[in-house]
Parts: sequence; C-alpha cells; structure tokens
Amino acid sequence: MLSFSDYLDAVPKVELHLHIAGAIRPATLEDLATKNGLHLPKRAEALYRFETFYEFLDALRLAALSLASAADFRRAAYECLEDMHRHGGVRHAEIFFNPHYFTPNGVAYPEIVDGLIEGCAHAERDFGISSLLIACIDRSVCLPSEALQMLDWMAQHPRREVVGIGLDGAERAGPPLLWVEAWRQAGRAGFKRTAHVCEDNQAQFEAPPAHFTLCRDALGCDRLDHGYNILADPDVVARAAREQVHFTMACWSGLTWNRAPRRQRIKAMFDAGLNLSLGTDDPTIFGTTMGHCWRTVFADLGWGTAEARKLSLSGLHASWLPPDRKAALEAEFTAALDALERDLNPADRSVDLSVTRR
Ligand code: ADE
Ligand code: ZN
Repeated sequence: MLSFSDYLDAVPKVELHLHIAGAIRPATLEDLATKNGLHLPKRAEALYRFETFYEFLDALRLAALSLASAADFRRAAYECLEDMHRHGGVRHAEIFFNPHYFTPNGVAYPEIVDGLIEGCAHAERDFGISSLLIACIDRSVCLPSEALQMLDWMAQHPRREVVGIGLDGAERAGPPLLWVEAWRQAGRAGFKRTAHVCEDNQAQFEAPPAHFTLCRDALGCDRLDHGYNILADPDVVARAAREQVHFTMACWSGLTWNRAPRRQRIKAMFDAGLNLSLGTDDPTIFGTTMGHCWRTVFADLGWGTAEARKLSLSGLHASWLPPDRKAALEAEFTAALDALERDLNPADRSVDLSVTRR
C-alpha cells in the first residue's frame, strides 16, 4: 500500500510556473560559470540565500548569466525536467525563459530556443515528460520596446514549442499598462499570454488587486501567475471565480517568513472556488521540488485525495498543450489518479517534508 507521501509524489502533475534561470542546479551553475568565465561572488548555495525579494531577483539574473551557448541551455532544460520527473511526478511542463537575460553573453534568440528545445526533447525521450516554452519579459530590467523586440525575434524564428509570453520581475517597476501594446500584438500573433500579478512578495500598493483587472482587460491574459494579493478585494475574487481564470501559484518561492502565510492564501483562494495549480517557480534557488511543494501544502492545509485530483486536473486543463495531447494526458491522469487512490493506505496521513526522497 502507498504511504500518503508516496501518493502525493506520484500524483500526475503539470508544472506551469517555472523559470529556467531559477532551476539551474547549484553544481551546474558553478560548472557553467567556470566554463564561461562568469565571476560568482559566492558559492552557489550561498548565492541562493537572500533576505529580500529584490536580492532574490539579482541572484536569479546572475544565475542566468551562466548560460552562454545552446549546449548550456540544453543542459539546463534537461536537468530541470529530470528533477521534475524524479521529484514530484511532473508529466508536462511549461517553462519561462527571459531572452534578454542572455544578451550580455551575446547569445541570440534562436540559439537560446533551439538549445532549450533540444534539452526538452532529450528529457521527453528519457523521462516521458513533455514541455512547452514561454518567452518572458523581466519588467524591472526591460523596457516595453524590448517586449516588442522579443516579439520580433519570436516572429522571425517561430518554433512550435514557444507558445506564449510572460511578464515577471518586480510588479512595482512595470505595472500592467506599460505592456499593453506588446501583449495585444502577441495576442494578434496567436500567442497565449500570462503575467506575474498580485504577488505577495510585494505590498498591496505595489501589486494591488486592480492589476488583476488590468491583466485581464488590457493585456488579455489567458492565465495568471501568483495572484494572492487579490484576496484584499472580494469583488476581484468573485470575478476570478466567475471567469475561472487559472492561477499558477508557487508554494515555496516566497521569502521564508511568507511561506506559511502564503499557504493560507492558497487555501483561501482554493476555498473561494478559484482555479489554480501549484508550481515551484525557482526550485533550485529556493531549494524545493514539486514533490516537496505538494507535501508541504497538503500537510499544512490538511488536504487529501479530493484536493489532489482537483489540482492535478485543473493544472492540466490550464496548460497550453494542443487539444489532442491534452485529451490523451487527461485520460492518463484520470487512470493514474484512480489507481493511486486504490493503492493509498487510508490509515496513513503522515507526511515526509524532505525536499528529495530518493
Ligand atoms: N522571476 C522568477 N521568479 C519570480 C517571481 N517569483 N516573481 C517575479 N519574478 C520572478
Ligand atoms: Zn515566477
């Protein structure tokens, strides 16, 4: 019979919220930095310790600079997909990459995407995990003109795997209205759209519920990343529930003091009937895995098989896979969930909170 922890690790999942620059293994970061002549002021593990959200973003951008060739992107993509597969039962992932992070290294857009695509293909061959890519703009370091530039690159080098655009970085530095032209152009070009919004690493005045409304109405976002700060406005919560817009939430990427409060926000949003899934965001920087993320949330919130089934299937439905692949995966997910529930030891509710379990 399956322990509750084994069950949670094995539940089939999609990962819709992961940044490649935040998913580089510490050893790989050091290795690539040495190879590419990037000076790291500290060992990777120390670099991945910080006090503020803004120091975290600096660490993330520095880690990104370790990637300087197609082979580096291939390795980063392969390893992060291997980690998702081994530590949390992820069967499909949609990965953010910020092309502008790599321009100081002289890496052009096609080299980035083709390296990532190759790593993703190798991971699918070896682990059966599929993936798509989301080109992303860091609003703290990019101008709106650079978002348009990214769309030009995407138009000049179309790849089936690059299905959408995202917006990350510090919300206070680049509120939604700055990005209207680019997001509308992306919509016309057939790309899906998302944005980090209402993230609770920032105060209500920096990342207010009104940004949810702008992301939907002005940017046309198909789904949203984070979203916790909308809880301050019941009208926005009611609209999000009515429209069933999907939120890709992150269980462990808050600062340490904010993790338990964030779990309560996730619970409040789930209980309000919102459509959501759990992601790892920046798993190696924050020291988490998908399995760890799920076990931590389920242990803390007292969740069980009904919640697991709901999250598993909501994430899949919100993915940007083509309908035929989504339908095939839905059949796989449902069969796997049924089998896991049959095997689960109903008497076991203890949860192992280790980051990796094998
Ligand atoms: N980039 C990577 N992770 C992020 C996060 N949690 N918030 C904003 N930008 C990010
Ligand atoms: Zn994120």
